Amino acid sequence: MSLIAENIGFWYEKNNWLFQNVNFELKRGEVVGISGYSGCGKSTFAKVMANYLSPIAGRVVVDNKAFVKGSYQPVQMIYQHPEKALNPKWRMYRSLTESYQPDQEILDRFGIREEWYHRYPVEISGGEMQRFCIVRALAPETKFLIADEMTTMLDAVTQAKIWKELIKICRERNLGLMIISHETELLAKLCDRILSVQEMQCGV
Ligand SMILES: Nc1ncnc2c1ncn2[C@@H]1O[C@H](COP(=O)(O)OP(=O)(O)OP(=O)(O)O)[C@@H](O)[C@H]1O
Ligand SMILES: [Mg+2]
Repeated sequence: MSLIAENIGFWYEKNNWLFQNVNFELKRGEVVGISGYSGCGKSTFAKVMANYLSPIAGRVVVDNKAFVKGSYQPVQMIYQHPEKALNPKWRMYRSLTESYQPDQEILDRFGIREEWYHRYPVEISGGEMQRFCIVRALAPETKFLIADEMTTMLDAVTQAKIWKELIKICRERNLGLMIISHETELLAKLCDRILSVQEMQCGV
């Protein structure tokens, strides 16, 4: 079972291709790193793989199926700025439980405290907010996770703790994990293999 890009291409400005003929496979249980210079199209590639944007050429297939509109998305994304991914008018508990009811074990693993539940996003720290976004993305229906510069805003100790837990969960649940980062050392430490958007265009 895997998340597959078949010859995908994307542009924002007509015919000005950001990437083209990209072939890529993320298998369940695998951790793959995506590297590349700023502006090369990593976040755009992530959004196409997560079905937030439709490819202009080619297609993305999840476990042999195209994406189904209106149902829970099996590919979930976690962003660099959690505050942009949360509704500022919702208390944290509402965002946390929007798609499923996380059990106590997973809340404990990410150190989420009950006293944060009733707060609004502006009333907790960036690192605390990011933990909510991670748990929220880990619904039972999630099969693949894409982390786009997920820990760039966090200190080294918090970063290490969060990655350790997330990778453990991905291995336990057999989830495919794509880690996008410009920090090559971080990718080297966490990933089974590392690719750049450019490399994928040559065809894998
Ligand atoms: N909505 C948009 N409309 C037009 N151009 C866009 C849009 N979003 C991104 N771009 C452009 O597409 C290119 C790739 O952007 P993208 O965010 O995918 O890069 P990135 O590799 O993630 O960069 P970074 O490492 O800085 O996050 C950039 O030149 C950017 O300016
Ligand atoms: Mg980006």
